[in-house]
Amino acid sequence: MCGIYAYLGHRNGVKIALDGLHRLEYRGYDSAGLAAIPNGEIVAFREVGKIAELEKAVGDFSANLVIAHTRWATHGKVTRENSHPQFDEKKNCAVILNGIIENYQTLREALRKEGVKFASDTDTEVIPNLVARAYEGDFLRACQQALLLLKGSFAVAIIHKNHPRELVVAANGSPLVIGIGAGETFVSSDPNALIHHTREVIYLADGEIGYIKPEGVELFDATMSQISKKTEKLLHEAEEMSKGQFEHYTLKEIFEQPRTISNAMMSRFFEEWGTVAFDDINLAISDYIAIKRILIVACGTSLHAGYVASYMLEDLARIPTQVEISSEFRYKNPIVPEGTFVIAISQSGETADTLAALRELKAKGAYVLAICNVPGSTIAREASGCLFLRAGAEIGVCSTKAFTSQLVVLTLFTLLLARMRHMSKPEGRKFLQMMEKLPGQAQLVLDQASHIEKIAKKYAQYNDFFFVGRRYMFPTSLEGALKLKEIAYVNANGYAAGEMKHGPIALINENCPTVALACDKVMFEKTLSNLMEIKARHGKVIVVATKKDGLDEIADDYILIPETYDELTPILASIACQLFAYYMARERGAEIDKPRNLAKAVTVE
Ligand code: AGP
Repeated sequence: MCGIYAYLGHRNGVKIALDGLHRLEYRGYDSAGLAAIPNGEIVAFREVGKIAELEKAVGDFSANLVIAHTRWATHGKVTRENSHPQFDEKKNCAVILNGIIENYQTLREALRKEGVKFASDTDTEVIPNLVARAYEGDFLRACQQALLLLKGSFAVAIIHKNHPRELVVAANGSPLVIGIGAGETFVSSDPNALIHHTREVIYLADGEIGYIKPEGVELFDATMSQISKKTEKLLHEAEEMSKGQFEHYTLKEIFEQPRTISNAMMSRFFEEWGTVAFDDINLAISDYIAIKRILIVACGTSLHAGYVASYMLEDLARIPTQVEISSEFRYKNPIVPEGTFVIAISQSGETADTLAALRELKAKGAYVLAICNVPGSTIAREASGCLFLRAGAEIGVCSTKAFTSQLVVLTLFTLLLARMRHMSKPEGRKFLQMMEKLPGQAQLVLDQASHIEKIAKKYAQYNDFFFVGRRYMFPTSLEGALKLKEIAYVNANGYAAGEMKHGPIALINENCPTVALACDKVMFEKTLSNLMEIKARHGKVIVVATKKDGLDEIADDYILIPETYDELTPILASIACQLFAYYMARERGAEIDKPRNLAKAVTVE
């Protein structure tokens, strides 16, 4: 979702900024633009579509101060006029924004009454106009005054034609990081896009402003007092961002799972005691023992990981667990009694709704454990503690390897709590031994890619699907359906198999196939009965199971996965569903890595 990249230094900032935009591409965007002040006037380029279009338009234009942006439309259609940078009427000032200005209509109306004419439908355009109106020769002061009027969650970068060597940046609820180089400064919405240039960074906190000049960076807080902040060091390695031999990042990431599953487990097993140790968090045994209730907040795929975890946490650790959709939860007035332990799950660590839920829960005194993939992300930094997925950059918008790593980390966390409560040492050991097999078992599922591709080809023309399962396979069915929706643009409903007869079965006919996740051992027989009901209505059934026994009358097609504990089956069944969605999408000609309308990090509400 919208990406900001800016540069001030001695090199050709246009090239650096365009490279930076490419590194932010994974976030999703529909247009791109940049602006600079080469000869006392603002020069800007804006193009709809890929960054390549912008590169063509820019040609060999160069400048030492550049602000650049990828836009994911929120206010106003995808047009050149609505892309960023946005300007004031006289083009004295240019602004790029990530996020949303909530009170833009009020501000726009007030400016309109003063005679300002707007050239776009964006919320952003009020900002350059506010800066221009407040400007009396002091650029920083004008920006500070304009920023004070804004409500919302945003990150912003501003330039003014009278100050060709100055850049003002600010953050409020949206990430913005300043990279300090040797005589040059970089700004980005994602630290990963800076790491190739510098490891010294400053994260702007809410309300903070950075005033960047060739001599260095000055920082101000929300009350406009100058502050000093130590730089932080980016410790992680620059991510390898190539598709390698694969046609799409999504496919590459699906195939990486044996390794990423193994990474998520690495050095976290405490085999002798049949339990788990996390170096990344600093909690005492008494803190774990004091947990009386767990509350999980997350969105999308991460939410589905949370649902799987809730079954495990209640079943194995016997801790009451509630899962909440962050976007709904943030507007509740949550009850957080003593003993509540919160888990915020977010691959990107930037999801605005989950961040808001985390802040509310911290304000109510809860310990919030984040489960994140991106070091340095806002959620990872603001949480009380963070367990990292170590899955490496996930570039495909569709979350695949991050999901299975989330499940691994959540399983390990459950095991830790279970061992402190009801689970015996031998049981814990057996569980760890079973987990050790997962990377190899994941590979066995991947080895069936061409079989799954054939099935996808057979069903590629169908426009409506059900994914059903029971117990651990219910949240897995939600995730399987989400994959098909988001990358193949196929209507797919994830449903608890036992609920089908309470309404949705009315939709079943020969044109609406069902992907039946019949892998949960405890619920196998019951699932079979539900599938019989679907079969009796002429529904075609693709069964994902660990064995064919008992499925002859039901299955039109099979995908067989290795047998493991029910708690671990979501990992293997999900890989099968990911491959199915991928091949369906490819067959239907969908744009797989960057599906329409979606963004990798959803930094707006
Ligand atoms: C996953 O395939 C989706 N693109 C989406 O549902 C995603 O999981 C959701 O936006 C939450 O993102 P997060 O994990 O980065 O918080």
